[in-house]
Order: sequence, then structure tokens, then C-alpha cells
Amino acid sequence: TPDNVLQQFQMKGKVVVVTGAADGIGLAVAEGMAEAGADVAMWYNSNDAAVERARGLGEMHKIRAVAYQVDVSKAEQVKRCIERVVGDFGKIDVFVANAGMAISKPILEQTLEEYQKQMSVNVDGVVFCSKYIGEVFKSQGTGNLIITSSMSAHIVNVPVDQPVYNATKAFVTHFGKSLAREWRDFARVNVVSPGFFDTKMGAGEFALQEAYRMAALGRQGHVKEIKGVYLWLGSEASSFVTGSDVLVDGGYVL
Ligand code: NAI
Repeated sequence: TPDNVLQQFQMKGKVVVVTGAADGIGLAVAEGMAEAGADVAMWYNSNDAAVERARGLGEMHKIRAVAYQVDVSKAEQVKRCIERVVGDFGKIDVFVANAGMAISKPILEQTLEEYQKQMSVNVDGVVFCSKYIGEVFKSQGTGNLIITSSMSAHIVNVPVDQPVYNATKAFVTHFGKSLAREWRDFARVNVVSPGFFDTKMGAGEFALQEAYRMAALGRQGHVKEIKGVYLWLGSEASSFVTGSDVLVDGGYVL
């Protein structure tokens, strides 16, 4: 770890994978990493705007940015895509498991398919990404995994019922902490728990009901306010941080 604090945040020469990088928090994280000098592999599922965004980021910051289409809920696709990124970039330093989705309905109104969809993206997706990136980190002898969870892992959020979503996030938070222990010899693992952010996900019923006003700061977060947290966790500036869960919620969970 360099002595100089600004050098600690320098990402030049690092390779960062971000899932769910086409929009919202994932796109902001990819931008932040590129701004700090990293090469970025931007994973997207359905929104192929990621391809154009990768091109733009590469040109603007003179780094390598490549978009990859992959459904994180499919183990084979995740495994193959990690192999492709290692083939293209030579290594992976930081993996941000960020893709996720929510169906905001009481359990009594959810179909089994809706339940399974949330489990497959939020739980299977994070487990598959972690399992296959863990193999890479172990063989490299170094690595850094950051999982996007939610403040909903801490509290049963009001006013919208999202029992399955809340539980998937509790799963990934505890899973991440467990991996910090399991991978102690070769990788750091941390969790970020966002509160209300102004993304597609955050623009739903929550925003309408203005629940975010209950945060100490009384507003939603803008995605530009979270990319520095991921940069901190992904860089040498946090070299003694592992197994942490960083709440970025404007003081909602107090
Ligand atoms: P978003 O909806 O803008 O982005 C989610 C991304 O995940 C999208 O790019 C989507 O294409 C991708 N994705 C969904 N299913 C996928 C699949 N099967 N395979 C690959 N990619 C898939 O939402 P946002 O807000 O940027 O969400 C990012 C993460 O932050 C999620 O894990 C979400 O649960 C979490 N979060 C968001 C909060 C908010 O207020 N916006 C609050 C707390 C957590």
C-alpha cells in the first residue's frame, strides 16, 4: 500500500468487472473505476446500451472498457464470461457483483415464478459470480470482491412489502462476510448496502411514496454519491478492510 493517500486510490493497471453495469449504480461504479484509471469489463444482461457506454468510457478516460452480455443467474454463462474477461484482460483485480432486481409485492400476492426470479438473480447470481471469481482470485493469489446488498438486509423496509427481496439481500450480506473469512489468504470481500438511490429500481413505488424522506438526510441518493465508496473498497485505500458492510443510505437505518 502506497504512503500517499491519493496514490492509494489510483487504479491504473487494475482490471475491474462490474455486473449490472448498463444502468444505475453499476454504471456509476464502472465510471468511477474508469475515472480512477482502471480498465473495466462491463457486464450487462438486457440493456445493450452498455456497449456504447463502454466505448464512451474507454475513449474519455484512455482506458480499456469492454461490454459483455451475460445473465448472472446462469452458472455456465458466468463461468464462461469470467474466462473471456481473463482471456481479454489477462487478470481480474476487482469483481463487483452488483446486478439485482426486486419485485415489490407481499408474499401472498407473489407467484412462485416471481419468488424464483428474485432468488435466481439476487442469490444464485451472486453465488455463481463469487464461486467462479474465487477460483480466479485463488489462482492469482490476490483479488477483491465487492457485493451490492441493500439496507433491506438490515431492516424490513417500509412502506412497500418486499419479503423475498429483503431476504435475498440478507443472504448476500452474510455470504460476503463468510467469504471474507474463507478467502482470507488471497482476497478481500466487502459488502455495500445502499439506501434509496435515484435509479430505475429506486424510481418505483418507493419514490412515489417518498419514503426516502425518512432518511436523516431527507432525500434519495444520487448514483454519483456512491461510486467513491466502491472505489475506496476496490482500491488500496481500504487494504485493511475485509468482511465489512458499508451502509450508504443517507442515514435511513439508524
Ligand atoms: P437497476 O435496475 O438500474 O440496475 C440493476 C442492473 O442489474 C441492471 O443493469 C439489470 O440489467 C441488471 N440485471 C438484472 N437481472 C440481471 C441478470 N439476470 N443478469 C445480469 N444482469 C442483470 O438498479 P440499481 O438500483 O442500479 O441496482 C443495482 C444494485 O443495487 C441491485 O443489486 C439492487 O438490489 C441494489 N440496490 C439498489 C437500491 C436503490 O435504491 N436503487 C437500494 C438498495 C440496493
